[in-house]
Amino acid sequence: MTAILFVCLGNICRSPLAEGVFRHQVRQARMSDRFTIDSAGCGGWHSGERPDRRSIAVAQAHGIDISDQRARQIHIDDFDRFDLILGLDRDNVRHVTAMQPQGSPAKVALYLEEALGLTKNVPDPYYGGAADFEAVYRLCGKASAGLLETYRI
Ligand code: 4NP
Repeated sequence: MTAILFVCLGNICRSPLAEGVFRHQVRQARMSDRFTIDSAGCGGWHSGERPDRRSIAVAQAHGIDISDQRARQIHIDDFDRFDLILGLDRDNVRHVTAMQPQGSPAKVALYLEEALGLTKNVPDPYYGGAADFEAVYRLCGKASAGLLETYRI
């Protein structure tokens, strides 16, 4: 069993897509019983909210429903609950690393680096348009496939 937490700034745009797309691919691979999957934000400004309507829309356009997700802020307990905590950009990784308790075995890494070996951020689409959300969706598709590949037997 592997527990993976996807973390961005607000938990309404990028990490809900990272969570939703990974969950979808895991389900399609019939590997759902091998993962615990969740997402969180570095900040709590949007706690309790649904994902951004543009994230819901781009996922829906690709046949994935993320509308029942609710935003939450990363919590210190997450370092006990998750094996792998993936920041969608370097600022997120820095924030999570700074919070990590001494001796916590959780691995904190940059999402695209862990998944695809790319030292790149997933750009924040919050102030962008539909094309920016589509670009995030595509990155999440590729990253999820790369991530899942490392767990196939
Ligand atoms: P996310 O995008 O980190 O991908 O969820 C953002 C969401 C909200 C804000 C910034 C980025 N905000 O400033 O409220």
